[in-house]
Amino acid sequence: MPEILLPIHTDRLVLRRFEGRDLDAFHAYHSLAETARFLPGPAKSYTKSMEYVGKYANFVYEKEGDWLSLAIEAKDEPGLLGEVVLKWLPGRGQAEIGWSTAPQARGKGYATEAAAAVLDLGFGDLGLRRIEARLDELNTASAALCQRLGMRLEARHVDKWFYKGQWATELVYAVLADEWSRESEPTPGP
Ligand SMILES: CC(C)(COP(=O)(O)OP(=O)(O)OC[C@H]1O[C@@H](n2cnc3c(N)ncnc32)[C@H](O)[C@@H]1OP(=O)(O)O)[C@@H](O)C(=O)NCCC(=O)NCCS
Repeated sequence: MPEILLPIHTDRLVLRRFEGRDLDAFHAYHSLAETARFLPGPAKSYTKSMEYVGKYANFVYEKEGDWLSLAIEAKDEPGLLGEVVLKWLPGRGQAEIGWSTAPQARGKGYATEAAAAVLDLGFGDLGLRRIEARLDELNTASAALCQRLGMRLEARHVDKWFYKGQWATELVYAVLADEWSRESEPTPGP
């Protein structure tokens, strides 16, 4: 795997490695039931947040199963706004993307902007072929995000998971490298 050059700058954001100072802000949104609703496990305890921030801060992306984990921060205002993660899946050129943002950072397109930068990284320097997202059908905010990114709805797996006390239907969205580069090209003028 090539070296991952951080931080990544987008129009409004900086994507960087997590640091210890992110712990309180991370815990502030991951301790909320609304954040945990569509994530595995309950709302995070402080020690669970410590575990995650430690893992994210020290991530290595060298082999299948590794997670690339980036902190999202606004360019003009320091402070953690959320995270975007990329899991290296088994098989050549495969990965899964995931995201969470703090409630005050939602509704501004930040998650879309951060995820697009990670797709650029994945299909660029990381040389991936396919990036997918797996989500609960009831997570309409995540489905809308996939659609804004131009990801294709590939599958709907009925009652695929039992979590949070109920059966959940899984949606699988995906985008391929050549689809992403086509999407990313500026629309030609008349
Ligand atoms: C999933 C999650 C990250 C989506 O957040 P989000 O704020 O809806 O997504 P974005 O940051 O891309 O913002 C999109 C919204 O900002 C609006 N927006 C404003 N400016 C925008 C811009 N420049 N670009 C794109 N969208 C913009 C969009 O219209 C959209 O608004 P809408 O929700 O009213 O349609 C968030 O809901 C979350 O963290 N949920 C909890 C954790 C979770 O479920 N994670 C995923 C598990 S699969």
